[in-house]
Amino acid sequence: MRFLDLIVKKREALSHTAEEIRFIARSAADGTAPDYQLASWLMAVALNGMDTAETVAMTREMAASGSRLRLKGLRSPKIDKHSTGGVGDGVSIALAPLAAAAGLVVPMMSGRGLGHTGGTLDKLEAIPGFKVGLPERRIKRQLEAIGVCMFAATKDLAPADRKLYRLRDATGTVESLPLIVSSILSKKLAEDLDALVLDVKTGSGAFFTEYARAEVGAQALVATARGLGLKAAAIITSMDQPLGRFVGNALEVRQAVEVLQGETTAPDYLECLLVLGGWMLKLGGAVRTADEGRERCEGLIRSGAAFRRFKEMVRFQGGDPKVADDFGTLPKASSSLPVRAPRSGFVRGLSARTVGHAALLLGAGRARMEDDLDYGAGIRMEKKTGDRVRKGDVVATLYGSSASGLREAAKKYLEALELGARPAKVQTVVRKILCPAA
Ligand code: URA
Repeated sequence: MRFLDLIVKKREALSHTAEEIRFIARSAADGTAPDYQLASWLMAVALNGMDTAETVAMTREMAASGSRLRLKGLRSPKIDKHSTGGVGDGVSIALAPLAAAAGLVVPMMSGRGLGHTGGTLDKLEAIPGFKVGLPERRIKRQLEAIGVCMFAATKDLAPADRKLYRLRDATGTVESLPLIVSSILSKKLAEDLDALVLDVKTGSGAFFTEYARAEVGAQALVATARGLGLKAAAIITSMDQPLGRFVGNALEVRQAVEVLQGETTAPDYLECLLVLGGWMLKLGGAVRTADEGRERCEGLIRSGAAFRRFKEMVRFQGGDPKVADDFGTLPKASSSLPVRAPRSGFVRGLSARTVGHAALLLGAGRARMEDDLDYGAGIRMEKKTGDRVRKGDVVATLYGSSASGLREAAKKYLEALELGARPAKVQTVVRKILCPAA
């Protein structure tokens, strides 16, 4: 087989066979295809697409291009959740121990933040001592003991995806749906899961800014997962404004802990957590319906079982479980600055993307992968869409360690805040649930 022939085939909008897809994924992983040919093929896919059978084959071959987590022998079902990412979306930190407290096995492989979006691994590393780079036998031992482990992908997991993702970034092909779907699912497939719940975000702070695109993306993710024998549901959730009350690494750990302690002051975060948890339990066969799953999750929060599982997870991964009882032990920024409403009115919008950029200016995120983070930096949002404000009210408190960063972030935060004379219609956080055969 010649790579050139496959580029021409895709250029002519023809479908690849499973064998051809295997050749492409292997050539990407082992370096036998030069970057210029891979880039050219990626552009042909971006322009002409891939059908479900091709996307399923691509996902399978990218997963097979490296090593898999070998979790066979562990009790089942093994379930993970994947979010397409956003601002203030630290839901995984509460969800993983919650689902484990319900009896599921949750190998949760997470990523790092880049640009305006945060990453679960960075948030977890805000907990003093918490380790995310764990060898397979440690992950397995922890899953056997407490049913939950949150960890980073190993270097040899889906190497074809790593290669292609870097090239997509440099060739304007990141947005191609079959490439997005195979990239996300190949890493999940390599985890040896029974089921997967997908949180597909839509809105200003999301990867899919437009709702219609998020829905098409969610459908493609569910169809491809099913083609791979992986039970899947996709929950489309709003990311027009940041989720919850906090943005920032240590602050989002605090948000998760507060919710697990029964705090209800972040209703959008709680709703997201309960709906995702309900679906994890449903797909895992622990309950008959997602509503029943939601009720079970509420009970596990009320009884303190989910909170206790969080503390166990922290202890197992080398972290200090005291963070759950005393937020003073979490990293803190050295300074803070209140942001005040410039006039009276109603909050009509709070752009998640712009708030994410404000958090970046405070040091809570990274513009480039090699940037350092200030774990204590971030934002506490006092007012969100729908709230009434009076001129001079504190709408947010910014935490950071540089005076200029705080000043610039305050300016940016005010850009995110849209005030109007009349109350806004508040979008429900869950927009749609896709689960074809549930
Ligand atoms: N996340 C991924 O892992 N891959 C993509 O292509 C997009 C989001």
